[in-house]
Amino acid sequence: MFTFERFKENHLSLLRRWLNAEHSKDIWQESDDIGKLKIKFLDELPRQGVLPFVIAKDHKPIGYIQYYDATKVGGGWWEAELNGTFGIDLMIGSSVHHGRGFGPTIIKEFIGFVRQKESSIRSIIIDPAPKNRRAIRAFEKAGFVKESEIETPDGTALLMRMTF
Ligand SMILES: CC(C)(COP(=O)(O)OP(=O)(O)OC[C@H]1O[C@@H](n2cnc3c(N)ncnc32)[C@H](O)[C@@H]1OP(=O)(O)O)[C@@H](O)C(=O)NCCC(=O)NCCS
Repeated sequence: MFTFERFKENHLSLLRRWLNAEHSKDIWQESDDIGKLKIKFLDELPRQGVLPFVIAKDHKPIGYIQYYDATKVGGGWWEAELNGTFGIDLMIGSSVHHGRGFGPTIIKEFIGFVRQKESSIRSIIIDPAPKNRRAIRAFEKAGFVKESEIETPDGTALLMRMTF
């Protein structure tokens, strides 16, 4: 149902629109400047091993998703995690696509996509803000299990995990 295309320069203005939407502002605090977004999403993140993709539904872009090898991110992130732990983050861009069960399906399909690329995966983590009840529920529906509240460089998060 969903496909994943590597995030490219021509997706930047769409990403900026998604980031500016009311439902994303608090969750993804990024610059509004296209030049800065370009540096972060096309240069800095891939250098840290965070691989960005666009989520497409029927070949139309509807959101952003990324995955990373948790042990390679650095910068104070995931210091207690072992080899084989990967993480994901996502945002469905438009509220017309929220609350329709897309999130859990996207996550399950993306995990299948990532597992084909990364044979060393042992577990996948996701770190919603504790107040992001909709995301937490969507992640439970996708098969993630709540672990504990943790402190990350971006603040308190609820660590959730899927183990293989
Ligand atoms: C989080 C997100 C991916 C979830 O995807 P989605 O397709 O909207 O999720 P779903 O339609 O499956 O449903 C969400 C579930 O949360 C529930 N929910 C919604 N608001 C809720 C709230 N305030 N408290 C508790 N549950 C809530 C819904 O009832 C539904 O559960 P149900 O199917 O058991 O009734 C999507 O909403 C999104 O991209 N949000 C903006 C960015 C974001 O929060 N990203 C996550 C960062 S960690």
